[in-house]
Amino acid sequence: MMIHESHRTAADGRTLDAILANASAETRATIGVLGEILGQQPASALSPTSFAIVHLGVDATLLASTKYSGPSTSLAILGNLLRIEMERHSGGVIIGSPGDGLPPTWSQLDLGIDEKVSVPGRLIAFFPAGTLDSEPLCVLVDDRHWSREFAILSSSAGKPAAELVLKRFCDRLKTAENPLRGRVLEATVVEGCLKLGITPALANPRDSLILPAEVWAEVDVFLAAATSRREIMRRLGLGTNRGMLVAGPPGVGKTHLVRVIASELGDRYTTILADANAMRHMIAELYGSSETFGPTLVVLDDIDLVLGHRDSNGDNGALADFLATLDGVLEREAILTIATTNDPKALDPAAQRSSRFDMVVTLPMPDEASRTRILERHLGPLGLAIDYDAVAQSLEGATGADVKEVVRRAVLEYGEHFTQAQILDITKTGRWQAAVNRRRYLS
Ligand SMILES: Nc1ncnc2c1ncn2[C@@H]1O[C@H](COP(=O)(O)OP(=O)(O)O)[C@@H](O)[C@H]1O
Ligand SMILES: [Mg+2]
Repeated sequence: MMIHESHRTAADGRTLDAILANASAETRATIGVLGEILGQQPASALSPTSFAIVHLGVDATLLASTKYSGPSTSLAILGNLLRIEMERHSGGVIIGSPGDGLPPTWSQLDLGIDEKVSVPGRLIAFFPAGTLDSEPLCVLVDDRHWSREFAILSSSAGKPAAELVLKRFCDRLKTAENPLRGRVLEATVVEGCLKLGITPALANPRDSLILPAEVWAEVDVFLAAATSRREIMRRLGLGTNRGMLVAGPPGVGKTHLVRVIASELGDRYTTILADANAMRHMIAELYGSSETFGPTLVVLDDIDLVLGHRDSNGDNGALADFLATLDGVLEREAILTIATTNDPKALDPAAQRSSRFDMVVTLPMPDEASRTRILERHLGPLGLAIDYDAVAQSLEGATGADVKEVVRRAVLEYGEHFTQAQILDITKTGRWQAAVNRRRYLS
């Protein structure tokens, strides 16, 4: 059907494609609809299939489509690679309508603050023989939420070449040509699809967080799977995947610790920070996506808020899905998972079994010496004559977050200069706590 439609010529010998080449989207759509009404046929002249048939010069029955089947979060990156190839062969490439009589669309790929590239959202591009490959090929991309596709169209004889070209595209996802690799990504759910957006790199030094030496020793063991022990673990078949569950009451520095770990891994690891919806609904897809990112750190912050609650039957579907997914990724190379929880008891004991999380690290409430060091850390730059120890003593039972609030309150009230009596008055009256409560309420 389609091929006849697009080969049909006007009185002057031009094909419908040629006539419509400069028509507006509106005109194309109108003619498409008219064509369907009059001919009882699809608006085929404008479909990607007929575009491919015309440019590849094959019969409809001999058209082959080689489809990408991988994480859909990679479609924008494949689109970016397609853009690169279109620019590289710009003399020869012909761009066609993605179908429905609509013009090709481009979308923005966010590579961070002030770093955006335009990538094909929906279009088909014809690469003549000798450009992308010795075989003439069309590349189709469609990155709409409900119809996500990346495919190479060829003659059936050209199918092996198309498969090779698709493989080359996919292999490039696993190289530095994938701009998401080594970055900090935020995983969210948009219109039912997992979306990965780049966020600024983390730069939290270890000395910004005051924790007992035993905790750091555990963190080092965890990190060794990614650093010093990675090779030998791989060589001995011991696996380079690790899961660490970081537990502790609110405000003891769990989220901060995750940021320190992500900072230390730097761009050797891609960090994926899963938001609540991504954890709840897309955990399997999230781990599946990480396949193209090389070594990956998956962060599941406050997992108890998402997975910890059982329904009235005592079932917890989200937790069950999550555990099954974690079991699955244990086979894969170099995936680190850090989950944090305020309430380790709210998690199913199975979640803590060693095969899922190798390590459970509990962050304690800071003791007096730690509170002193946290105060030092925050107040040090002001160079005030304050006995940190005396202030720490007055903050029995305070978390690191609380200590930070006391400092915030003092600076808000007094600016750069305040006395020990003034800061002790803040701890004595407890007026920093209103700010703590407000902060917790808002976050
Ligand atoms: N032990 C600590 N040393 C230094 N700062 C801390 C410590 N504990 C908490 N803080 C600070 O308190 C704030 C809240 O900590 P956060 O990591 O969000 O706590 P949690 O995730 O355990 O609730 C952060 O700004 C963090 O830097
Ligand atoms: Mg936290």
